[in-house]
Amino acid sequence: MADLVEEAKKKASYAAIDEHVDSSTSVIGIGSGSTVVYCVERLAQRVKDPNSALKIKACVPTSFQSKQLIIEAGLLLADLNAHPVIDVTFDGADEIDESLNLIKGGGGCHLQEKLVAAASKKLVIVADYRKESNALGVQWTKGIPVEVIPMAYVSIQKKIESLGGTSKLRMAAPAKAGPVVTDSGNLILDVFMGILRGDAVLETHLKLIQIPGVVETGLFMDIAGWAYLGLQDGNVKRMA
Ligand code: 5RP
Repeated sequence: MADLVEEAKKKASYAAIDEHVDSSTSVIGIGSGSTVVYCVERLAQRVKDPNSALKIKACVPTSFQSKQLIIEAGLLLADLNAHPVIDVTFDGADEIDESLNLIKGGGGCHLQEKLVAAASKKLVIVADYRKESNALGVQWTKGIPVEVIPMAYVSIQKKIESLGGTSKLRMAAPAKAGPVVTDSGNLILDVFMGILRGDAVLETHLKLIQIPGVVETGLFMDIAGWAYLGLQDGNVKRMA
């Protein structure tokens, strides 16, 4: 099972890199999570190929993890302010619906991931078969990741309750170690607002983002142009 999932992540990532990176690609955004590891692996193979025609001048990370991945692969690390226009970003997702709406932030990096995605001409999602869903909240049952300002997390939880939702402060494992703190020094609330279909995705994002102290939600709408899903049978499903 674990091998099947890893193989699916790898196949999806290799296909996505091979079909979206060519000699015209200059700046690449690198998402976070376990699937993009294979994107970086494939990118590095292609850059180091002696016959490579690639001219990648910068890779922009979305987290401490992806920064390390870029450095360890020997790719050129740069930041978003130096490269505010990115040709293509590759990122994972926790759940993907038929319209390419996403839940992201399982790793707590969705703020930086959204900033990099918003600066990208193309956002390509890579995932394994477990992430596909007909509505958000069906496969991913851990709640919508919402990054919040630490001093207000309890009042934000109360506002979420008044909207009919519930939330849990994300704790580092083991729980005694305290809450998860994001790369930007904020906390994560995992928010339960039911199953989200169609317009409910945007409506829920808008309700949450209006609460003072909410920095960003893990709901991504109208931003991913492609998704590559590694399947159990070894094939790759392309969604666009
Ligand atoms: C991190 C993310 C990740 O992209 C998402 O959690 C998917 O991770 P993985 O590829 O390990 O399943 O949004 O904030």
